[in-house]
Order: sequence, then C-alpha cells, then structure tokens
Amino acid sequence: MQKNTDLTPRHEARMVQLVFPSDTNQYGVLFGGIAIAWMDQAAYVCAARWCRRKAVTAHIDAVDFRRSVPVGATVELIARLMSTGRTSMRMEVEMWAEVLDAEEGPYQVVRGEFVMVALGDDNRPTPVPPFPPQDHSSTTKSNSR
Ligand SMILES: CC(C)(COP(=O)(O)OP(=O)(O)OC[C@H]1O[C@@H](n2cnc3c(N)ncnc32)[C@H](O)[C@@H]1OP(=O)(O)O)[C@@H](O)C(=O)NCCC(=O)NCCS
Repeated sequence: MQKNTDLTPRHEARMVQLVFPSDTNQYGVLFGGIAIAWMDQAAYVCAARWCRRKAVTAHIDAVDFRRSVPVGATVELIARLMSTGRTSMRMEVEMWAEVLDAEEGPYQVVRGEFVMVALGDDNRPTPVPPFPPQDHSSTTKSNSR
C-alpha cells in the first residue's frame, strides 16, 4: 500500500477551523465552550487513531485560555498523545490562531489536557496499545499509516 510520510503521525491529530460569527460570544471573539468542543474533537481523533476503538472523554484538565481569537481568524488544533494507561490515553491539545489577512500569527491561544478511555464492543473500557511504544516493532507499526 502507498505511504504518505507527510501525513500527521498516528499519535497526533490536526484540525483547522475558521471562526464564524456563530462561534463567537457577545464580545465578538471565539466562545470558550466552542474552543473546548473543538479541542475535544481533536483529542478524540488522536485517541481513536491510536487505539482504533471507540473512545470517550473521561476527564479534561489544565485548560488555559491565553489570548482571544477574533471572528474571521483560523485556528489550528494539534492533539498529541502524551501517555497511555491500561485503557486510558492522555492527550495534550494546543490551539493556535492565525489572522490570515494580517501579519500576526500563528499564536497559541489555548492549551489543555484530555483523558480519553477506549471502549470495546461491550462499551466497557478496553486495553490500548502502550505509548510510548515499548519495542521497535510497535514503534514501526505505530508510525505506519
Ligand atoms: C470514562 C468511563 C468509560 C470510565 O468507566 P469506568 O467504569 O469508570 O472505568 P474504570 O474505572 O475501569 O476506568 C477506566 C480507565 O479510565 C480512567 N478514568 C476513569 N475516570 C477518569 C477520570 N475522571 N479522570 C481520568 N481518568 C479516568 C481510569 O483511570 C482507567 O484508566 P486505566 O485503565 O488507563 O488505568 C465512564 O466513566 C464513562 O462512560 N463516562 C462517560 C463518558 C462520556 O460520556 N463522555 C462524554 C462524551 S464522549
């Protein structure tokens, strides 16, 4: 099968969103709840890409909103797998903003950590592949797509 080495590695996920007026709060900047929903989606994609199972959010913590994002900006979400337990996966998610018709950016606006749990066909927690991978063969497998 053909491999594209430019694609995001299996322990990461990236998403780009355009901030529409419907995504903003009463001050005309990105609403925090929308930001967390997008971060949650990126964390989900990262987790499911790693474990190849259903995955649900168990915990969100350490979310820092550093700067606001104006309507019309783009944001890029980067989710990275940090560690795994038996059935859980901890991801770091960053959100970077860029105003495409201005010089500034990209600049980091939000960072948080998300714990996702893999579910088996019975909807109970099920084991996930370890991260970091514990041997060379799993490293190779994890990085292949
Ligand atoms: C997440 C959930 C599956 C855990 O089920 P559970 O029966 O409590 O499972 P367990 O106690 O066996 O824990 C399973 C794993 O989740 C982790 N976990 C559970 N709750 C957690 C929490 N609040 N914070 C961090 N980790 C948590 C455990 O540490 C364990 O990790 P490990 O296997 O790597 O050691 C269950 O609480 C659930 O379904 N929650 C709702 C999820 C949801 O609807 N999310 C929003 C929409 S996606």
